[in-house]
Amino acid sequence: MKVPFMIFTMIFVAIALYFMQFDLNDFQALNKKSEKFFKNVKSSIQYSMTNKDRAIYEDMQEDNPADIMLSNGELIFNNMGGEKKLASFLEIKEKDLPKYIAGFPRYNEKIGMVVGLDQVIQALAYDAGYKKTRLSSSSMFSVIAYVKSLANDERININIKENIHLYESYTLGKNIFHMKRGGRGLSCFSCHSQDIVDRVLRTQKLPNLGDRGVAAGATWPAYRMTKSSLRTLQRRFQGCMKNSLMKVLPLGSAEMVALEVYVTKKALGHKIAIPGLKR
Ligand code: HEC
Repeated sequence: MKVPFMIFTMIFVAIALYFMQFDLNDFQALNKKSEKFFKNVKSSIQYSMTNKDRAIYEDMQEDNPADIMLSNGELIFNNMGGEKKLASFLEIKEKDLPKYIAGFPRYNEKIGMVVGLDQVIQALAYDAGYKKTRLSSSSMFSVIAYVKSLANDERININIKENIHLYESYTLGKNIFHMKRGGRGLSCFSCHSQDIVDRVLRTQKLPNLGDRGVAAGATWPAYRMTKSSLRTLQRRFQGCMKNSLMKVLPLGSAEMVALEVYVTKKALGHKIAIPGLKR
């Protein structure tokens, strides 16, 4: 009974391996072709759209559908005490908020961890009597987007040497970015390294996360056209993890915050423009 089953399993594994190989070869061949074809296309351009979709994209750039979500975020934020409360929580002057926001994620002594803006807002919300604030809720996304937009036009100024906690978080983020995980043994770096940037995967150009025009750390939260919703940077990471068969890490975990630190550092010096608009 057991022998035929083993033979069956071996044949099955052999076939699966063959197809995985085939898939990879296919991907490489496609990349070679597309490399030639797309040589002149700039990475920041959202090119793989129909003309009709492109027209919508351009309209949306003038009039980002997420603006209304930010207004909603502003209302909720003001109910929690607004900028005054946030500044006092962070122990800084209200007028210094924009510059300070442009340096997140940061180590926060009260919370005792390196945190993203979302976790600071979660703490404020808790103080204001909102007992259930899921980091993944759409109202939370709206508030984060609004608060980060207070720093619009400031340049990302994260300083990973500010303290040992942030430096350790950066190092962890770098490791996770390069760590091969999941069903395909891919890392973030497999698709977002300098030498593969601009190649095409599933009709999308692989973005250099720190490039002008992408600068992920400065342009998320963003409205994602394909999801018709406002998403945060960590939520975007989760999308990539899911697509590349990695175990999806929870929002706000030390690992996710570390990835955000690492990716934000790549956008150092880029101007913040929230809400972003992404395909
Ligand atoms: C299999 C390839 C692949 C892997 C692995 C991958 N990504 Fe991506 N990623 C993409 C593609 C393709 C896009 C662009 C999709 C688009 O334009 O809609 C993208 C987009 C992004 C963006 C948005 C960029 C922007 O426009 O602002 C971020 C941020 C990102 N990835 C982070 C990550 C992180 C972090 C990891 C590791 C956990 C990761 N990616 C793993 C393929 C990948």
